[in-house]
Parts: sequence; C-alpha cells; structure tokens
Amino acid sequence: MAQDKMYLTNDDMPRQWYNVAADIKQWLTPPLDPANAKPMDPSKLAAIFPENLIEQEMSVERWIDIPEEVLEALVVYRPSPLVRARRLEKFLGTPARIFYKNESVSPAGSHKPNTAIPQAYYNKVAGVRRLTTETGAGQWGSALAYATNHFGLECTVYMVRKSFEQKPFRKSMMNMFGAEVIPSPSDKTKAGRDILTRMPDTPGSLGIAISEAVEDAIAHDDARYSLGSVLNHVLLHQTVTGLEVKKQMALGGVKPDVLIGCCGGGSNFAGLVFPFVPDRLEGKKIRMVAVEPSACPTMTKGVFAYDFGDTGKLTPLLKMYTLGHDFIPPGIHAGGLRYHGMAPLVSILIDQGLVEPVNRHQLACFEAAIMFAKTEGIIPAPESSHAIRVAIDEALRAKEEGQAKDITFLLSGHGHLDLTAYDDYFAGKLHDYEYPEEAIATSMKGLPKV
Ligand SMILES: Cc1ncc(COP(=O)(O)O)c(C=O)c1O
Repeated sequence: MAQDKMYLTNDDMPRQWYNVAADIKQWLTPPLDPANAKPMDPSKLAAIFPENLIEQEMSVERWIDIPEEVLEALVVYRPSPLVRARRLEKFLGTPARIFYKNESVSPAGSHKPNTAIPQAYYNKVAGVRRLTTETGAGQWGSALAYATNHFGLECTVYMVRKSFEQKPFRKSMMNMFGAEVIPSPSDKTKAGRDILTRMPDTPGSLGIAISEAVEDAIAHDDARYSLGSVLNHVLLHQTVTGLEVKKQMALGGVKPDVLIGCCGGGSNFAGLVFPFVPDRLEGKKIRMVAVEPSACPTMTKGVFAYDFGDTGKLTPLLKMYTLGHDFIPPGIHAGGLRYHGMAPLVSILIDQGLVEPVNRHQLACFEAAIMFAKTEGIIPAPESSHAIRVAIDEALRAKEEGQAKDITFLLSGHGHLDLTAYDDYFAGKLHDYEYPEEAIATSMKGLPKV
C-alpha cells in the first residue's frame, strides 16, 4: 500500500527557528513611533512585550535556538504529519499531487500553539503574571489559553463580538483552560467604549480587539500583551512547520512546486514558506501563494504603507499591506482572516514579487472545504478553506494543462467548533461580499502621514 503520510520522530523536531529577516535585511523597514514618525525605541515597547521577545522581534540572526522547555511543550503534538490527499486528487482527476501539512492536530486545533507556547514561556521567564490578547475566530485565544495554563500564567482574551456570538464553544474551550473571555468592543477599556459610542451595533474587528488588549496590558504593570500573528517573532515561531515540511518532502520525494497558505495576519503562511525563501532567492522555481478573503483584500487591493496595527492607534506604525486601520471587514465566517493589515515580512516578499497574493470569495471556499471533508475526512476551519480552494484551483489548472506538479498547502486548523458556519452555508444563509470599495477608500484616508 502506498505510504501517504510522512511522519517525523521527536528527534527530527527542529531545534532552531529560521529567521527570514537575516536573508532579506536589505528590504527591512523599522517600526515607527507614532509620536514622531522616528524608528521606535525598543525600550518603549517594554510596557507591551517582555524584553526577550522584543529582542527576537528585532533580531536578524538567521537561526534562533528553541529553548528546551518550549521543545518539551511542542512535542506534545509535533512533529505534525505531511499527508498526500490522494482521494481529493482522484476526485478532481488531476495529474497533480496534493499534500497538506496538518496543523489541526494541536490541542487548540490549529497552528496557533506553535507561537502561543514560546510566547507564554518567554513571558513566564520575564516574570509576567498575566497575558492579554485578542482573538478573531477563537483559535488564537484557545491556543494562548492552553499555553498560559501550561506555564502557570493568567490570560484575558478580548474576542471579536461577531465570533463570540458565532462560536460559543471556543469561549467554553478558553474558559476550560482558565482564561477570561470578554466580547469586544467592551466597556472595560477606553478604546472599546469609544467604538461602542460611535457604533453600538458593530460586529467588532481584530483591530478593535487588539486596541483593547494592548490598553489593558499597558494599564497593568504585571500584565503584557501577546499577539497571535503579524509580528516578526510570531512568524519566526511558526517556521517549525516549514522546517518540518522540508524534511518530510526530502523523505517522500515531494517537490515544493507550489506552496499555499491562507493569510489573516500572515503567520501560518509564513511558517510554511519562509524556510523555502533561501531556495527561492537562489533561483529555484518555487511558487508561494498567499490567499485572503475577497471581503478583506489586504494584499490584493490594499497599499504598502506605514499604518497602525490596531483601530485605537495604540501600536507602533508598521510598513505593511493595509486597508487602513479603520476598515471593519464584513462579518464573514473566516473570522481569523478579518484583519486590515498583513505581516511586514510577508508584505516585503509580496512587494519584491516573491509571494503571489490572491483572493477568493467565501462561498467558493466553503464548497472547497466540503469537497475536502468528503474526500479526505477532515472538516477544515473556514480560514483554512481558502488555502484548500486555491490548492484545488491549482490542481484543476494542472489537469487542463496536462501537467504533473506537487501542490502543498498548510491546513491551518480544523472546523469542529465552526459547524454553525457550515450549517449556515447549507441553509443558504451565507453570501459573498463584493470588494467593499467605498469602505476601503474612506478608511485609506485615515492612513498616518509618514
Ligand atoms: C485556523 C486559522 N487559520 C488561519 C488563521 C489566520 O492567521 P494567520 O494568517 O496569522 O495564520 C487563523 C487566525 O485566527 C486561524 O484561526
């Protein structure tokens, strides 16, 4: 019988993270202080992040050691398998081979613990007592709740209101790991109260929830803030997936012809593709395709400019693809992809033409998710369905062109707690949102002048 699952042993776990900043130094741009538009003084970030993580954020060392305590926590569910989707291939009648890196096997059900664990660890070492964060779909909040519980920290999660209503069991899961969960915008913070006054019925957004979590951390000496995507150190931690995939490809004779990931803030995509960037820079033919929702087209319709990471303008300015920090995306079910910005490191690779950004509508993604569930037996998270959609589109194109190639995507999470979304899809309640041109144009006017 054909060997379709490429497993690694604990000894094959990467011992170091790969830092892409080392290889794209010439294109890096510093975070700016919104007060004077000058490069941010790292010490000013200390009210938000512990020093050890600020150091990682700024680092241009190519390899960074993974602490032993972090490795011990990661091997609870890592290395994760790389699997050939043979039944999906057969269903599509494609000559292409399709593989997926299955990150849904973690305790939280997604790739998010890959950074939640090291972030909780570094905060613990730095003497922090409580972490605050935001969550969209609830995957990140669950991951941080799991990790803070593991290292004995407290955790407060501001959950985007739309997701809080759509995904009540994510809240149960976070509560189970001991976290407090607050629907955002809330009346606990000034940022939340301001939005509620202006827009009492807002579905909320990641930008607003970030403002609340940052404000909470700044207001309490023993608390720090933790972000589940976008920042350099988060993307760094996610490279365990791509490093494992490289080993698995070598074992199974798989070629990295096309690599695909969905993009909210860019962390799962970065985790998969960054370890392949040196090969690409050497001239190897590797396509890296980043997929976002058509309803929140940051990379495909946004601008590459300095902007705030949050709606309340509390964060440093980052140079990134953005739709403007005021943009509140429509309430699509892929809550984790409703973010106005994109990780600066991913943005650079797009700007340099190394990464291909594409967008897909939600109904086409749900259709792909159901095809995947019926053939491969895994119900994907709505976010991950964007990567599946493009993997299927690529496989169908290969069929049309009669070309054999290897397509690998990252399955960023399972959808066991997203079944309401699938019910809504089957009931015909979901629709596609056209590119919200006017809303984006208005929001773009608010970009800071740098
Ligand atoms: C399952 C899943 N996939 C993808 C994402 C998007 O995040 P990122 O782009 O940082 O990987 C999220 C975010 O919440 C998620 O929960």
